[in-house]
Amino acid sequence: MNSFRNINRRDFLKFCAGTASILGLSEAAVPRVAKALEAAAKKPPVIWLEGQDCAGCSISFINSTNPGTAEIVLDTISLRYHETLMAASGRLSEKALDDAINEGGYVLVVEGSIPAVDPRFCQIGGTDFQKTVSKAVARAAAVIAIGACATYGGIPHDCPAPGQGMGLGEAMKKGVVPRKPLINLPTCPVHPERFIGTVVYYLMYRKAPALDRLGRPVVFYDKLIHDNCERRGHFDNGEFLTDWNNFEQRNWCMYLKGCKGPFTHADCPKRLWSDGLNWCIGCSAVCQGCSEPDFYAGMSPLYERSGIDIRGISVEKIGAYAAGAVAIGLAGHFVGQAVTGRLGKGGPKDEGGDK
Ligand code: SF4
Ligand code: F3S
Repeated sequence: MNSFRNINRRDFLKFCAGTASILGLSEAAVPRVAKALEAAAKKPPVIWLEGQDCAGCSISFINSTNPGTAEIVLDTISLRYHETLMAASGRLSEKALDDAINEGGYVLVVEGSIPAVDPRFCQIGGTDFQKTVSKAVARAAAVIAIGACATYGGIPHDCPAPGQGMGLGEAMKKGVVPRKPLINLPTCPVHPERFIGTVVYYLMYRKAPALDRLGRPVVFYDKLIHDNCERRGHFDNGEFLTDWNNFEQRNWCMYLKGCKGPFTHADCPKRLWSDGLNWCIGCSAVCQGCSEPDFYAGMSPLYERSGIDIRGISVEKIGAYAAGAVAIGLAGHFVGQAVTGRLGKGGPKDEGGDK
């Protein structure tokens, strides 16, 4: 047995190998991952705060099972405060939070948005969430916002709830919360592997992984969903699902049904969800763009086409080009590739970040 509770060395190394692959590292990095995790057995402490949220990211995190990820990480990172998971409640839990903040040097994880209108709309233990986050950010060694709400505001930002909501980055920009380097891990909910990979990277290098202009680790968010989608061949051939009841169309491209994959950056098609079981498009749901700052309102209605042509070219034309190309003996996907070569970035709102 190593220093991790209930986990033998073999399982531990298997976990390290899995974590290295999450980060796109080669097998040679496994001993380094193992060393970082073992050295971290007593530290760093992690404080996990929940604001205006549904606890979906917490559930996503504890649902990870391969192999006992939650167990390992809970031990490894020394979770000092988590309202949903901790056994303590009331004054005891508040004391646990105060003690951890006073010690400083922890990794702060924020789930859920911060009230944008009136701080009183979200209080924990009688204290404004805004104040608790500010205090916790000030003494944190690293700050990670997880899920759509904590990163860019998510559903609370766009729904008519009185408190509304803003992401941590926006709160920092507005001076509501002290400014600190911030790692954003969007999607609704957070993907457990992206969270674990980011924490392990931090333990290994004591710094954030390379981030894009929206604060997202490029290792997880650099490609468009559309680039790796299993239905991309149908897009390239101009085969668009228009009738859910038409069996022949069941695997065709869902762009006309509202898919936001051409505007959304994340590795869902490769990483998959639920321990590699499936993902949105794999079970015939459109990509709703939940990794982008525009989610939720900017991606709605979810099942209607965005109304935006891809780089100025209508999808109907892509279909027509493809049909013409077949007629003159060219493979349709070459036409599609020529058209979609104008993609790359963009979408409902090209400039992202805080709302
Ligand atoms: Fe896949 Fe959506 Fe792109 Fe169609 S539009 S290929 S369903 S990501
Ligand atoms: Fe979100 Fe689209 Fe992935 S909806 S979970 S970014 S497939």
